[in-house]
Amino acid sequence: MEILFSSLALVSAVILHLGLFAESISVYQATDTGPVGAGDDNVILNPRFEDGLNNWSGKGCKIELHESMEDGKIFPQSGKFFASATNRTEIWNGIEQDITGRVQRKVAYQVTAVVRIHVDNVTSAGVQITLWLQEPDFREQYIAIANSQVTDKDWVQLQGEFLLNGFPSRLVIYLEGPSPGTDILVNSLVVKRAEKIPASARPISKNATFGGNIIENSYLDDGTTGWFPLGNCALSVGTGSPHVLPPMARDSLGTYESLSGRYIIVTNRSDSWMGPAQMITDKLKLYLTYQVSAWVRIGPGATGPQIVNVALSVDSQWINGGEVELNDDKWHEIGGSFRIEKQPSNVMVYVQGPASGVDLLVSGLQIFPVNRQVRFKYLKKQIDKIRKRDIILKFSRLESSKRAWTMKSFVKFLVKSFNWAVFENELKWSWTEPQEGKFNYRDADELLDLCKSYNIEVRGHCIFWEMEYAIQSWVRSLNASGLMTAVQNRLTRPSHTL
Ligand SMILES: *[C@@H]1O[C@H](CO)[C@@H](O)[C@H](O)[C@H]1NC(C)=O
Ligand SMILES: *[C@@H]1O[C@H](CO)[C@@H](O)[C@H](O)[C@H]1NC(C)=O
Ligand SMILES: *[C@@H]1O[C@H](CO)[C@@H](O)[C@H](O)[C@H]1NC(C)=O
Ligand SMILES: *[C@@H]1O[C@H](CO)[C@@H](O)[C@H](O)[C@H]1NC(C)=O
Ligand SMILES: *[C@@H]1O[C@H](CO)[C@@H](O)[C@H](O)[C@H]1NC(C)=O
Ligand SMILES: *[C@@H]1O[C@H](CO)[C@@H](O)[C@H](O)[C@H]1NC(C)=O
Repeated sequence: MEILFSSLALVSAVILHLGLFAESISVYQATDTGPVGAGDDNVILNPRFEDGLNNWSGKGCKIELHESMEDGKIFPQSGKFFASATNRTEIWNGIEQDITGRVQRKVAYQVTAVVRIHVDNVTSAGVQITLWLQEPDFREQYIAIANSQVTDKDWVQLQGEFLLNGFPSRLVIYLEGPSPGTDILVNSLVVKRAEKIPASARPISKNATFGGNIIENSYLDDGTTGWFPLGNCALSVGTGSPHVLPPMARDSLGTYESLSGRYIIVTNRSDSWMGPAQMITDKLKLYLTYQVSAWVRIGPGATGPQIVNVALSVDSQWINGGEVELNDDKWHEIGGSFRIEKQPSNVMVYVQGPASGVDLLVSGLQIFPVNRQVRFKYLKKQIDKIRKRDIILKFSRLESSKRAWTMKSFVKFLVKSFNWAVFENELKWSWTEPQEGKFNYRDADELLDLCKSYNIEVRGHCIFWEMEYAIQSWVRSLNASGLMTAVQNRLTRPSHTL
């Protein structure tokens, strides 16, 4: 009897949160739920009915306590007692316990019940563990935690997990399911924290380079080196994919590095899981959040929308690294994130999803860490590089009568703030030759002299400017041959140096 729950030891579950910067992956390990003892952290009070029916109630039916039933044919599997939910008239009738306030938010709990049924003419029925919760706004939710076929011949163990994200104002757990008239017998119900694997040697990876891509040959500079086909499909390289980084990667990396425009095309896919793959076991570091980014596209021949997914196979557990639904033949961004907290012995990344026979195209797949500390450091660098970069000053909307550059305060500001300048209008044709043959290079010369004297680099502006309002009237009135001559003169005539 004392090894009743030993099969539960080492059960692990993956709690997966999709979304870019969610805490992506945590691997939990269920604790051994041996017989109740001191320090038992069970959420359920009186879980094995040693204290009678205290803390339990019937949900729409009667509950009773038993040491045995059927003239000694039914005994508890462990302990001295079990309970029954009897006189059930609805399938939702059963035995319940209010656990309001005894469950923490965002913590994974494991639920285990030992149950059987009792009825005259039925040998098996579905029994379910259900969590009912009421939100502060009185909305209700029913969460099915576990269900299983249960017999009248033997005790059966039901097991499931839950994790709450909200703040329910009421929380009740109960057993339900069989048709009316069938009794539900319960030997025990245990709700315990699914313990996180102790973060014993939690290495803070000081060396992790933020943004350091761990995918080999992402840009396909070297054919399909580093890649292999998962399954019996064929990989080759094509060109014509986007040169820009997908937006989410751009947001994180902050750079405008361009992609190669090359992509992997996967043909001869005879199953939806087939696609390009890479082993990345040695490149992953624990406790770092990795961001996944790529462009993906599907070939012709799809009937209906196709899912494309970046999958991570971590010691044969499957982790979603991003997913997108495609319904056309355009390139789409795929992005996601994940995190691994337990040393895996094998990690493979692959892209998969479309129906068999549909070609899959993948471009610029990158996986890079987005560690917070490292990310902040990186952002600081970016600030130095981008926000503190050189700035081009435009002398805009200045009329010759208000020549700002002759004002001392303006010059002081200019010289202090900038080391590059571009003229806005002062070198335009309408400014330098407002009337035919009457040249004005005074403003441009003054600006140029000013900038030169302070070592400010200068760029001119359009030689011709097509906006009609900006074209001086004498030019506008020219006929075709006159315009040709004037344009030639503008291009070739030495200007103010005349
Ligand atoms: C559980 O039952 C015991 C005995 O009736 C009672 O003293 C205790 O207050 C109950 N606990 C809760 C949380 O209802
Ligand atoms: C419960 O059911 C039993 C037999 O099925 C019946 O004898 C008993 O009167 C019922 N009790 C109640 C409270 O309905
Ligand atoms: C079991 O018996 C009840 C009443 O005796 C009857 O209503 C029900 O249909 C029976 N169920 C089966 C599966 O025979
Ligand atoms: C970090 O980098 C240094 C120098 O590059 C190296 O000596 C050290 O082993 C690295 N540490 C880890 C944890 O990778
Ligand atoms: C792909 O499939 C086509 C048609 O079924 C076949 O002719 C071709 O040999 C296959 N190519 C590869 C590389 O398997
Ligand atoms: C164009 O204008 C010029 C000067 O006004 C004039 O001499 C010339 O004949 C005109 N040419 C044509 C083709 O109208």
